[in-house]
Amino acid sequence: MASENLTGEIRKIDEAFQSRLAEAKDAPSLERIRTDFLGRKGHIARLFETLGEADPAVRREAGRLLNELKNRAQSAVLGEAARVSAKESGEDRPDLTLPGYAPPVGRLHPLTIVMRRVKSCFQKLGFAVAQGPEVESDYYNFEALNIPPGHPARDMQDTLYVSDRVVLRTHTSPVQIRVMENQKPPVRIIAPGRVYRRDTPDASHSPVFHQVEGLCVDEGVSFADLKAVILAFAREMFGSDMTIRFRPSFFPFTEPSAEYDFTCVICRGKGCRVCKNTGWVEISGAGMVNPEVFRFAGIDSERYTGYAFGMGVERLTMLLYEVQDIRAFYENDLRFLGQF
Ligand code: DAH
Repeated sequence: MASENLTGEIRKIDEAFQSRLAEAKDAPSLERIRTDFLGRKGHIARLFETLGEADPAVRREAGRLLNELKNRAQSAVLGEAARVSAKESGEDRPDLTLPGYAPPVGRLHPLTIVMRRVKSCFQKLGFAVAQGPEVESDYYNFEALNIPPGHPARDMQDTLYVSDRVVLRTHTSPVQIRVMENQKPPVRIIAPGRVYRRDTPDASHSPVFHQVEGLCVDEGVSFADLKAVILAFAREMFGSDMTIRFRPSFFPFTEPSAEYDFTCVICRGKGCRVCKNTGWVEISGAGMVNPEVFRFAGIDSERYTGYAFGMGVERLTMLLYEVQDIRAFYENDLRFLGQF
């Protein structure tokens, strides 16, 4: 063979090898390819013989190409042989007896779980769910709740102001007014949602947290109705052994006003660190709707009476799950969130 054609011949053998290999399906056909190309009298051996007669000018480059082809063909045949034998023995099939991979499943945030439970408790008692804006006017957040400008009760709640007359609501109580403006009695609603206070975060304070407001207005509604509803809620939420107590307090929007406690959820009243050995845990405030508030909302306080109450969702959740630090709810640490 003329030496000029040698590199062309190597390329042709290479191509032939590739296409034969692509078609090989079993060990015998692979063995035939091996003898045809890599055997003592195979194509590659024949090309090596030709190399000896070639023009020294092409010999060097053709020799390099030929060696490269020989090595590549050898490892390709070996690789293919391993694949074919694995296939024939069934080793490449999936082992269906191995345990599967469990896909990671998302969970509800503990505050969402408790919020939903609170809603469902009150829905069973006949309360509808109402909503109001988080960016609220001074009028609804304070004035219509009988907290006029300069009233000392404004200091009870460190307010975040958006502008002079606009605040981030400091409680869900303003929803009471919005509902009463739009709906004649009987009214029986809860208003769950986010509230904001200018507080420095620590184990028990967060500048954003959640409350649920309750409001019931009708003819003949009394403080006894309020106590019955709060007791039913406490038992539904924390168990049938719960008792409640009311202590006199003051809120401008209720008269009389009270703060209410539940039997300590942790020690069931025996006394522990969480209840500071009193057997009671403080929940929030409540009372009979102040006639002044009815006046702001346009409801006849001669004909109607009502009760209102508040509660903190973080507080309930911390008691229910014995969470020590409120900040855990907002840090999104999956080790914490994965426990609910
Ligand atoms: N709004 C009060 C607070 O954020 C909680 C509250 C107290 C709500 C008494 C009420 C109530 O409806 O009657 O501290």
